[in-house]
Amino acid sequence: MPDAPSPENIVWHEGLVTRQTRLEKLGARGCTLWFTGLSGSGKSTIASALEAELVNRGVFAYRLDGDNVRHGLNAGLGFGPEDRAENIRRIAEVAKLFNDAGAVAITSFISPYRADRARARALHEAAGLPFVEVFVDTPLEVCEARDPKGLYKKARAGEITGFTGIDDPYEPPERAEIVLKTAEMTVAEAVACCVGEIL
Ligand code: ADX
Repeated sequence: MPDAPSPENIVWHEGLVTRQTRLEKLGARGCTLWFTGLSGSGKSTIASALEAELVNRGVFAYRLDGDNVRHGLNAGLGFGPEDRAENIRRIAEVAKLFNDAGAVAITSFISPYRADRARARALHEAAGLPFVEVFVDTPLEVCEARDPKGLYKKARAGEITGFTGIDDPYEPPERAEIVLKTAEMTVAEAVACCVGEIL
């Protein structure tokens, strides 16, 4: 790979359209809904249902999903702390772009480390873009009982190492704007909770 260019040779180019104009002319609203929670907690299910609900209401919404993004943009990243941090950094940048463009960006990544999520929040706040952290608060026992991809079974058998919740940490949010206790609510209720927060 060629050497990274020197940052002083890269100059920010301001566009002609302000965010305010973009949002007014396009009738859009930008926001990032950052879902975090264990594998199997229900992030992708709720995020998909939320995206469908918003699009049905005519809201420009777009979902970025952990497993899907790891097939493309983030193919090649693993699950060690540095790769997870890089995974989250890139997603935060992409979500910020969608948000700035007027979309409701819905991200669903385990994003297990508080520091990584704090960086994603700070990136948005520095740009004046709304950021809503959604903690999908499902107990490990419930996620493990659901085990939709059979990965907990593999992790328990030692076939996967560094699996979040088993032999890798999950740091729950301390001040998430929305907490969804999926063991005690339906997907529709969870979606309604998110819609109520942003519309
Ligand atoms: S994150 O930690 O970097 O935010 P991300 O949400 O992108 O994770 O990917 C998590 C998905 O990858 C899980 O839902 C699961 O399907 C799969 N996966 C594979 N290996 C692991 C692992 N060691 N820990 C967690 N998830 C894993």
